Amino acid sequence: MKDIYAEAADRIRNAQCVIAVTGAGASVESGIPDFRSPGGLWTKYPPFEYATIEAFHEDPDKVWVMFYELGETLMKAEPNPAHYALARLEEKGFLTAIITQNIDALHQRAGSSTVIEYHGNADTLACSACFRKRRMDISHRDHGAPRCECGGYMKPDVVLFGEIIPPQALLQSETLARTCDALIIVGTSAQVYPAAGLPYTAKDCGAYIIECNVQPTDFTRAITDAFLQGPAGKTLPRLADMVIGDAA
Ligand code: APR
Repeated sequence: MKDIYAEAADRIRNAQCVIAVTGAGASVESGIPDFRSPGGLWTKYPPFEYATIEAFHEDPDKVWVMFYELGETLMKAEPNPAHYALARLEEKGFLTAIITQNIDALHQRAGSSTVIEYHGNADTLACSACFRKRRMDISHRDHGAPRCECGGYMKPDVVLFGEIIPPQALLQSETLARTCDALIIVGTSAQVYPAAGLPYTAKDCGAYIIECNVQPTDFTRAITDAFLQGPAGKTLPRLADMVIGDAA
C-alpha cells in the first residue's frame, strides 16, 4: 500500500497546475482561533449578530467589538510552518496559486505571491458611505466604530455574510478550480459557499484532491483522494518535503 504522502507528492510533482484552498485551520497554529471548532470565534460572537452586513449597519459599535478583538489577535500573529510550506511549493514551481478564505494576510507574509483573498483582508478599512480607504487601527478601541471624515462608519475590507465575493476573486478562483490538476484543501470545514464549492468544481473537472485537516469534513467523505490528518503545521511541511526533496 503506497504511503498516502508519497502518492499525494507524486500527483503534485506530475501536475501542470496545483492550487490550494485554505481556511481558518491553516492559521490556528499562528494563534488565530478558527470559527466553528469548540472555542472558535463564532462561539463567542454568534455570526448572525456580529458577522452579517445587516448587523453592521444596525449596530456598527457592537460589531466593532469583535473586529477590535480580531484585529488585536491578527496583529500578534505570525506565519506558521503551514504557510511557509505552501510558499516553498510555490517558489519551487509546484503551486500556482492559493485561494484563501482567511483575512490575516499570513500567506503573503510567509512569501506566497499569488494569493486570492476570497473573503477580503482585515488590513484595510473602507468607509461604508464614501468607500474611502484607510489602514486598520485598533487604537480607537475605546471609542467604538471608527468614523470616516464624511461621517460614515469604517468597515474592515472583509466579506460579511450577505455581501458579495469580490468579482475578480470569484472569477479567478472559478477558473483555477476548473483548470487545476490537483487541489490542496487546508483547514476548512466546507460549510461556507461559494468558497466550499471550489473543491467540488475541481473534482468534477478531474482534479486530484488532497485534504489537510485535524478531522474529516464533508469533503473527506465526498471527494478527497488523499486525506492527510493532523495539524496543517505538521502535514503540509511533510508533504512539501516529499515534493521538493526529490526535485531539489
Ligand atoms: N490544522 C488543520 N486543520 C485545522 C486545524 C489545524 N491546526 N485547526 C482546525 N482545523 C480545521 C477544523 O477541523 C475545521 O474543519 O479547520 C477548519 C476550520 O473551519 P471553520 O472554523 O469553519 O473555518 P473556515 O472553514 O475557514 O470558515 C469558512 O466561514 O465564517 C466564515 O468567513 C468565515 O472564511 C470563513 C468561512
